[in-house]
Amino acid sequence: MSSRRLAVAITTAVLLAVGAAACESGDSGGKAGGGKIALLLPESQTTRYEQHDRPLFEAKVKQLCPDCEIIYSNAQQDQSRQQQQAEAALNNGAQVLVLDPVDGAAAATIVSLAKSKNVPVISYDRLIQNAPVDYYISFDNERVGQLQGESLVNRLKELGKTSGNIVMINGSPTDNNAKLFNKGAHSALDTSGFKTVPTPDFFTPEWKPENAQKFMEGQIAQLGKDGFVGVYAANDGTAGGAISAMRAAGITPVPPTTGQDAELAAIQRIVGGDQYMTVYKAFKPEAEQAAEVAVALVKGEKPSTDRTVNNGAVDVPSFLLEPQAVTKDNIKQTVVADNLYTVEQICTSTYSAACQAAGLT
Ligand code: BGC
Repeated sequence: MSSRRLAVAITTAVLLAVGAAACESGDSGGKAGGGKIALLLPESQTTRYEQHDRPLFEAKVKQLCPDCEIIYSNAQQDQSRQQQQAEAALNNGAQVLVLDPVDGAAAATIVSLAKSKNVPVISYDRLIQNAPVDYYISFDNERVGQLQGESLVNRLKELGKTSGNIVMINGSPTDNNAKLFNKGAHSALDTSGFKTVPTPDFFTPEWKPENAQKFMEGQIAQLGKDGFVGVYAANDGTAGGAISAMRAAGITPVPPTTGQDAELAAIQRIVGGDQYMTVYKAFKPEAEQAAEVAVALVKGEKPSTDRTVNNGAVDVPSFLLEPQAVTKDNIKQTVVADNLYTVEQICTSTYSAACQAAGLT
């Protein structure tokens, strides 16, 4: 045997032994009542993660398994940091990983490490590619993009427009969701009479609002202030960046702009007329579904699902929820009705007149 092969064989044997040990301690820990669940979220510039996903997940786990411990980490958009956080969680005895990957392809490494320790992995919100993931819990993300595209086209038609450029600002190139949003949006935009620019499509590095803003500044310089009729922004953060760029260039009113996440700042921009729409993906059912599956896995159960999504390696058992478009007309029936925000939170003094006009009282 060559020395390299010998090294591989020894490493494999050591990994197997470590895996078996982790599995034993994991099993007894889980079945005795408690258990360790790791929640690994990707960033905190988007408000959903710290304001909604994390507390909702933690509350549901506490309710279903009072003795369970949650190991929480946020990677702040850094894939190698997420890798280290996952390693730390596994070394710390995590029995399930709930992973929302910064980079869906690179996260396959985390999955193989977890698998070597017999730890199941739930792909949370974003799909991890080409790896034996155990569950995927998310929304119908192509539908998200389709809702964005359709709302934008309908609004432009309401305004009497039938042609012109739509500046397209997609999400992070390392997020599988961004590809699905893009695909769904194209399904609505490509047959609409409007033209998406630029070609090829622009994807915003790390979903950063400031990157979207810089990109939009470049588009305004290139196309001119009247050179586009609408803006497709993949989420509220990138919408905020694009709107800042348009405002700074003196474009008023800002042309219809899409978003996603129902962030408070975006809901306020919608009330005030700077942003046309957002997509609300109810965080509660998503986070709670993940908590339910994680606790079941800790207890050695395997929840059943009626659908799967292929990630390039396996058909991943999946739970996919339905997104909803939100405009000024249905803020009350959606995010307010769901107690995401109160009317008082939305209607601060800056927005009180706009709120009155929108019937938000
Ligand atoms: C999520 C969005 C979020 C974006 C940026 C996507 O994977 O589905 O809700 O706005 O990432 O974090």
